[in-house]
Amino acid sequence: MNRSKIQNHLALFVSMAALAMLLAPAGALAGDAAAGKTVYTVNCLSCHGETGKGDGPVGMVLQPPPRDFSVGDFMFDGDGDGKIATDADLAAVVAKGAGAFGGNQMMAAWAGMLSEDDIANVVAYIRTLKK
Ligand code: HEC
Repeated sequence: MNRSKIQNHLALFVSMAALAMLLAPAGALAGDAAAGKTVYTVNCLSCHGETGKGDGPVGMVLQPPPRDFSVGDFMFDGDGDGKIATDADLAAVVAKGAGAFGGNQMMAAWAGMLSEDDIANVVAYIRTLKK
């Protein structure tokens, strides 16, 4: 194989990889934790706290308290498939609010305020807070 053929193959490979990323199915929730950190800081930190312990200024006074993301035990079956604590569950709770699952109404429904990407990203970020 000559040099330009190799370069062509390389270019094809790179563009296929880029295409695969673009075409990743929407339901796959391949969230970007770095982007999620911004979403978290703006919208979630006041309750869930900087390190996710639920000790934000608002979170401290709530009962039941915000979920402690440093422990990472989750409760609600957001997508109703009989399993808890999957990314899809967390995304559904964030979208619909904990009240929709019998939890604290203070954990609001974010669907109107955050895009699906924002929610996937913030879920990815929450996963990084587990110690
Ligand atoms: C006003 C306070 C408040 C804010 C703001 C808040 N939460 Fe919560 N969150 C809570 C509380 C309280 C709970 C616990 C609900 C319960 O156990 O009944 C909770 C629970 C959760 C859970 C646990 C779901 C489960 O299955 O256990 C997730 C995930 C979550 N919040 C994500 C977020 C994200 C992401 C944001 C920002 C977009 C956010 N929260 C903003 C108060 C808040």
